Amino acid sequence: MRVLIVGGGGREHTLAWKLAQSPFLSRLYCAPGNAGIAALAECIDLSPVDIDGLCQFALKEKIDLTVVGPEAPLAAGLADRFRGAGLKVFGPGRSGARLESSKVWAKDRMRRWGIPTADFAVFSEYGAAARHLEQHYVNKPVVVKADGLAAGKGVVVAPESAAAEKALRQIMIEKAFGAAGEQVLLEECLFGEELSVLAITDGRELVMLPSAQDHKAIGEGDRGPNTGGMGAYAPAPLLTAELARKVERAVFRPFLAGLRAEGIDYRGVIYAGLMISDREIDLLEFNVRFGDPETQALLPLLRSDLLPLLLATAEGRLEQALSSLDIQWREASAACVVLASDGYPGPYKSGKVIHGLVQGDPPAAGGTGAEEGLALFHAGTAFDRSGRIVTAGGRVLGVTAWAQELPEALQKAYRAVEQIKFEGCYYRRDIGHRALKR
Ligand SMILES: Nc1ncnc2c1ncn2[C@@H]1O[C@H](COP(=O)(O)OP(=O)(O)O)[C@@H](O)[C@H]1O
Ligand SMILES: [Mg+2]
Repeated sequence: MRVLIVGGGGREHTLAWKLAQSPFLSRLYCAPGNAGIAALAECIDLSPVDIDGLCQFALKEKIDLTVVGPEAPLAAGLADRFRGAGLKVFGPGRSGARLESSKVWAKDRMRRWGIPTADFAVFSEYGAAARHLEQHYVNKPVVVKADGLAAGKGVVVAPESAAAEKALRQIMIEKAFGAAGEQVLLEECLFGEELSVLAITDGRELVMLPSAQDHKAIGEGDRGPNTGGMGAYAPAPLLTAELARKVERAVFRPFLAGLRAEGIDYRGVIYAGLMISDREIDLLEFNVRFGDPETQALLPLLRSDLLPLLLATAEGRLEQALSSLDIQWREASAACVVLASDGYPGPYKSGKVIHGLVQGDPPAAGGTGAEEGLALFHAGTAFDRSGRIVTAGGRVLGVTAWAQELPEALQKAYRAVEQIKFEGCYYRRDIGHRALKR
């Protein structure tokens, strides 16, 4: 099979690494890819949101399956366009992607579909929103959310109404996120521990993945500004078998019923961002794609072949395929430590030569030089003019290790991290701290 991956970060490298292990794969392309992906796939110089360009490429190259990594192309209708052209895509169309691209729409659906979630109100005018704060949230924590896609920066958890009002001003008056801030949610603040549960679904049948937890904050102890994610681990000990059944019952089943009721054709990943407190679960948000860096910790745990699973999903025949797919997960834990450029998530320098990459370089299933249970996924990397691999982004690499138990996986990951050197390399030393405490 000829497969195209859309995207060029750590998530896409992980997808490429896993798909490259499939006996059904004949040719792998990635648009735009990165220096690590280039060892596994032919990188195509097209932007993930160049839908015309990608569609032409897929038709010309007779691509059998396109796997979409990031949310932006899904929100822009890549999957609709490809399906219209007779191409198979793993990833929801624009209507399904709205669950991520509009937080207001998503909260309305959660309420309508009976999925437990924080109380909220929607505003399109600053004055009304400010009055709501005064009436309901004086000296109380509240969460302010811009409606649209804001690269993980559109949410402010405010300890009291003054901080919330400042956020409201930034979004609604100063228009910090442009059109993404035309509507704003004011949401009750929930407390507890966050957990991600992802499932692969064709809109009818659903396969839950092991749970994962990520570390969003730049600093140790989960302090400082939020990033795209500084590390992740899976499974999260927080999700017991009982809680997993509850997540399926309270979130995923109503989600599937909701899709049916609204006639939404959904084929891809549904990602539930949950808040867990005293056995209560609330849905904070839906994402409509694999998480980054959760994917780097999740896919190494999949023992069976990913390609037929993604294909069956794209073809809408997951239920029929389930018995032959024989999905198997390793009885193991995985941890991913992200190496970032100093300064990220603020301004940072690029073009720094990366040393010590050999040991983790995963050409395929534990290829030459790769230690068993260790993989190095590239995020922001590129080749310089002399063919050296250099930094080319805020998040540069994700070192993933897996082992029987999480502490062992973490040790192994950190041992590998120490071998890698580039100027201004920053990483958190406390990935997995919550799970270790448990
Ligand atoms: N109702 C809430 N109560 C407490 N914290 C919240 C709430 N909603 C969001 N958060 C916090 O804000 C973060 C980002 O919110 P989320 O809805 O996931 O948006 P996004 O990931 O698109 O930025 C969450 O991971 C969580 O830490
Ligand atoms: Mg989130």
